[in-house]
Amino acid sequence: MASKKLLLLPGDGIGPEAMAEVRKIIAYMNAELDSEFVLDEGLVGGSAYDAHGAAISEADMAKALAADAVLFGAVGGPKWDRVPYDVRPEAGLLRLRKDMELFANLRPAICYPALADSSSLKKDVVEGLDILIVRELTGGVYFGEPKEIRDLGNGQKRGIDTQVYDTYEIERISGVAFELARTRANKVTSMEKRNVMKSGVLWNEVVTATHKAKYSDVKLEHMLADAGGMQLVRWPKQFDVIVTDNLFGDMLSDIAAMLTGSLGMLPSASLGAPDAKTGSRKALYEPVHGSAPDIAGTGAANPIAMIASFAMCLRYSFNMIAEADRLEAAIAGVLDDGIRTGDIMSEGKIKVGTVEMGDAILAKFKALA
Ligand code: NAI
Ligand code: MG
Repeated sequence: MASKKLLLLPGDGIGPEAMAEVRKIIAYMNAELDSEFVLDEGLVGGSAYDAHGAAISEADMAKALAADAVLFGAVGGPKWDRVPYDVRPEAGLLRLRKDMELFANLRPAICYPALADSSSLKKDVVEGLDILIVRELTGGVYFGEPKEIRDLGNGQKRGIDTQVYDTYEIERISGVAFELARTRANKVTSMEKRNVMKSGVLWNEVVTATHKAKYSDVKLEHMLADAGGMQLVRWPKQFDVIVTDNLFGDMLSDIAAMLTGSLGMLPSASLGAPDAKTGSRKALYEPVHGSAPDIAGTGAANPIAMIASFAMCLRYSFNMIAEADRLEAAIAGVLDDGIRTGDIMSEGKIKVGTVEMGDAILAKFKALA
């Protein structure tokens, strides 16, 4: 059996509280399902800064690079608001993304039937929604050069960011999108702004060529990113996989996420390129939310985003599809039972804390075995 080295980086605030609920699931899987996860642990964010003076230590970075997958909680909090920029908590996450070359960010937007009423959109628009946004994460306007504020010498300054994409970057991100589509509804929608951006013209060409060369069995459609934003709130169920650049993906994935509810529900995955020999990818899984200092320590955090991130880890890093499906079904089942943390609470439901929610999901996961 392939190795299953998992590095846990719980981080700060509610990160460790949510991670504790995943630990219980892993302990059960190891004890009862012979899953053979080998766990290691490290510090990241403010807790790493307190221990080592850096947002992640070199030793923990090395562990992350050697692991088959990294589970990341959340970083940051008021305690570290004034630490130097280079060692601020977020620097730990950015370093991980960069050194692990995690170029593909996967953000699912799933509507759990039990929560279809609490969306800001009409129930029939979101009920049954299951889309996946694949955002390019290591290129584009966030990294392109020149990137500066230039003094024009006449009392004016010029702020400059540059959108840059090379062929290989578009090929590899669209390859991820096409491969994921094959495991889902087999459709990819590529979004760019080829009408006003040269990088958009190239994006469109390369996605089209990649599709023709290797993935012509998948249905491909192109959409201008602004029109895509409209369609996401008008009729999101028309989409399966959406692939887009770093900037548009940042915004479109946040929009898609909010179609279905609370930050406490949203998982994500960030994937690297497959290893030429083994075919395995570097990967990091994390909830979309931050460290929630306002509720940290109160036992009120919703652990579902973290647990659903672990389900993505089972699916994408370990090909444990049955277990991933079962864990996601356990989350849906607990919601069907009316169990809610404060962030998703509504009238007539049963309010619980982090630990009770984790226990309920584990019990359901066991019952579905
Ligand atoms: P946040 O996501 O931590 O919290 C926003 C709001 O959502 C808060 O009211 C919080 O209580 C609530 N919330 C978030 N997750 C929840 C959960 N699982 N259950 C119940 N309620 C939840 O974002 P905010 O407040 O902007 O940032 C707080 C800190 O987290 C900052 O230091 C920020 O830099 C950091 N941060 C870290 C991220 C990461 O580690 N990837 C991402 C975003 C923010
Ligand atoms: Mg964003």
